[in-house]
Amino acid sequence: MKNRSWGGRFKNSQTTEFLKYSASIHFDYLLAPFDIAQNIAYAAALQKAKILNGTEYKKITKALRKIDTEIADGTFDYRIEDEDIHMNIERALNQKIGSLSGKIHTGRSRNDQVATVTRMYMLENCKSIIEMLRKLRKTSLKQAEKYLNHLMPGYTHLQAAQPVRIAHWFLAYQQMFARDEKRFVDLLDAADVMPLGAGALAGNNFGIERKFLAKKLGFKRITENSIDAVSDRDFALDFCYAASVLFTHISRLSEELVIFSTGEFNAVSLPDELCTGSSIMPQKKNPDLPELLRGKTGRLNGNLINLLTMLKGLPLAYNKDMQEDKPPLFDSCEQTVASLPLVIKLLGETKFNTKHLRSKINRGFLTAVDIADYLVLKKMPFRQAHHIVGKIVAECEKKEKTFSHLTLSDFKKHSKLFEKDVFSYADPALSPDRKKGVGMTSETSILAEIRKLKKRL
Ligand code: ARG
Repeated sequence: MKNRSWGGRFKNSQTTEFLKYSASIHFDYLLAPFDIAQNIAYAAALQKAKILNGTEYKKITKALRKIDTEIADGTFDYRIEDEDIHMNIERALNQKIGSLSGKIHTGRSRNDQVATVTRMYMLENCKSIIEMLRKLRKTSLKQAEKYLNHLMPGYTHLQAAQPVRIAHWFLAYQQMFARDEKRFVDLLDAADVMPLGAGALAGNNFGIERKFLAKKLGFKRITENSIDAVSDRDFALDFCYAASVLFTHISRLSEELVIFSTGEFNAVSLPDELCTGSSIMPQKKNPDLPELLRGKTGRLNGNLINLLTMLKGLPLAYNKDMQEDKPPLFDSCEQTVASLPLVIKLLGETKFNTKHLRSKINRGFLTAVDIADYLVLKKMPFRQAHHIVGKIVAECEKKEKTFSHLTLSDFKKHSKLFEKDVFSYADPALSPDRKKGVGMTSETSILAEIRKLKKRL
């Protein structure tokens, strides 16, 4: 079968295998509502350019609206032989209004058309992701308020390091998600540029009013070089990168929750509704959601590398390779949109086992730095203080003791500078409030941070 839209110069038809192979309708059908909006706006621009008269414009847009309804209610007839969504819609238009449909593609190419509607798809997803990231940030903030006065060990090298407020941990993720939100907000602005009117690559011969078109389609700006307009997929790269960084953060959160929820750590309990049981081991509560989120990060990174590799070395302007931009872009969009509500629930409903954590911070020498700093306040050089506290820790370990078991004379054996007030420095409960600077773990620092965020969110 010859392709009706461009079959004129061909003697032989494409093979069925090749037509199937080169079709994109099985994934670009997602662009349908955007392509309809684009067609309706373009019809108005064609009327302004005197290519369509008023009656023709009305006929075309009425038929397009009908097609839009068919798409929305699931009755639209997608056909693989029409290759992609743009040609499917044009064929449907032809079925409704006959040869008049042939005027809609005047001065336009699928190259500027697809670049435009793929952006529209991405921008819409970007907006809902930004909304969800706001919710996620609010959720971390709420949890921070709830756990303001509870402590947990902070880790480095996954070794218990220093006591921190659980609120501080939640606010760390808040910061990460705030940067993610900014990445999507910046992308939303950078990608808000309309390629339509660029034609195949050189522009169009009809004086199509591009600013008018952009306004109709809700774009802020129009592209400034028609070759670049149809070649540029930076918006898709930027989206996939932003999604990958977001998932990198989500995967770190997930990893922590997987570890914290083990019997060995016993630091958190995850909501039952987001966990699964084992088909054989009745005692199990498996953290499937954070595991899945952690696993999906690989998939999103794959999408980014996929796009980068597809675009590398492509000559200007459009090449069919670029049809392959959609599966990775769509997948990163869909996965992000589907994951965020679950991440919000996971972060918002995870309960910290505060009682167990309290007992935990009393073990493990988490105030070693505080004791060294105590000696520093008594004028000892920090390196010397570090050495002395190291010796105290070694001795405690040998005798299976913690700092709280030590008497003043135990301390004094190591340095004459130790006095009774060392006990307050050895007490993990008192350690966080000594760290009073911006972004630190004292109650005042955290309250200031919460206050600032409440104003912003
Ligand atoms: N389905 C194509 C894509 O997604 C549309 C553009 C086709 N352009 C062309 N010159 N064959 O890239």
